[in-house]
Amino acid sequence: MDAQHMAVDLRRVSLEVIRAGQAANGAYVASPTFSQYGYSWLRDGAWIAHAMDTVGQHESAGRFHRWATQTLVRYAPKVEALLLKLQDGLAVAEHDYLPTRFALDGALGQEDWPDFQLDGYGAWLWGLVQHCRQHDPALWPEARPAVVLLVRYLSALWTSPNYDCWEEHRDRVHTATLAALYGGLSAVAGYEADLVPASLIDAIRHHALRHGIADYGGLSKFIPPDPAPGKLVDASLLWSAVPFGLLPVDDPVFLATLAQIERDLHVPGGGVYRYRDDTYFGGGEWVLLAAWLGWVYVELGRLDEARALRAWIESQATAGGHLPEQTEGHLLDPSYLEGWITKWGTSANPLLWSHAMYLILDDAIRQKAPVQ
Ligand code: BGC
Repeated sequence: MDAQHMAVDLRRVSLEVIRAGQAANGAYVASPTFSQYGYSWLRDGAWIAHAMDTVGQHESAGRFHRWATQTLVRYAPKVEALLLKLQDGLAVAEHDYLPTRFALDGALGQEDWPDFQLDGYGAWLWGLVQHCRQHDPALWPEARPAVVLLVRYLSALWTSPNYDCWEEHRDRVHTATLAALYGGLSAVAGYEADLVPASLIDAIRHHALRHGIADYGGLSKFIPPDPAPGKLVDASLLWSAVPFGLLPVDDPVFLATLAQIERDLHVPGGGVYRYRDDTYFGGGEWVLLAAWLGWVYVELGRLDEARALRAWIESQATAGGHLPEQTEGHLLDPSYLEGWITKWGTSANPLLWSHAMYLILDDAIRQKAPVQ
């Protein structure tokens, strides 16, 4: 870290960036400046709200969850129409599914977007339950109709191929998506058992572990696994253990996955790629994934490595303390960078989800070693 970066209190700036990016109704914008990210994603929002809970900003987290609840209930007729179509064996169009992101006022986006993604709904359920259980039980009765709706939606769709958390590969099933659904639905069942059939949770776990383990002995990015070099793992598999608990963090299958991610995707002394053949903005190291790896290390008791990742993240902040989505230091394929900049402008900075994961990692380290 150089002197300029040390001057910035990244915890304080992260809170400011998140607060400034929250609309009065509770929605969090993904990035206030990047051309494509003026929306609220449930995926990003779940982690941002969770980060706010870890730093004691429960009111902010609660406002987000209330916004998400009201937004989902608003689209209940859309879900009912989709479920009827499925029941009657009718063709389903892309716009029949719930979207992955909403305008800040809860409206549907107008642009074409790879919207059919399920992991964000799992993440939101997981975050909602943590928030209600630990800080705000009064929210649960309000959120319940949205939870019930989502349980029905996800029961009907979890086996369907859908875009992954990077909004790619519409035609595949993704192990990390199943892990998020497992994590969200089992959190709901742990809070109010009657809301989720145990058979659904078991089926998701069974499917992921039966079909999502590759020959190398760890989890694979795709179901079925794709043995092509670079297609084996994805850094989002980290969340299979922390926090979604599809596998315990010290399970041999998860440890094999972690070792593969370390080999393929962790730049020594630096950050973490999403996957080996990433070309989005040249395929840089993602701040939020560096934090995720650090979070896993904390849970494994590998605190020095967690601290090194936190320090790397701090070194990537701008002079004003803003964290980007990804960094340009070690691009996987720099030839793609200019094309993306021409298309959409420079990549997202600040990204609220990056700030959120920094706060989550920082809190995890402090919980384990309170003086640090
Ligand atoms: C990422 C998503 C993310 C969205 C908003 C996309 O580029 O692939 O994971 O939710 O940006 O941050």
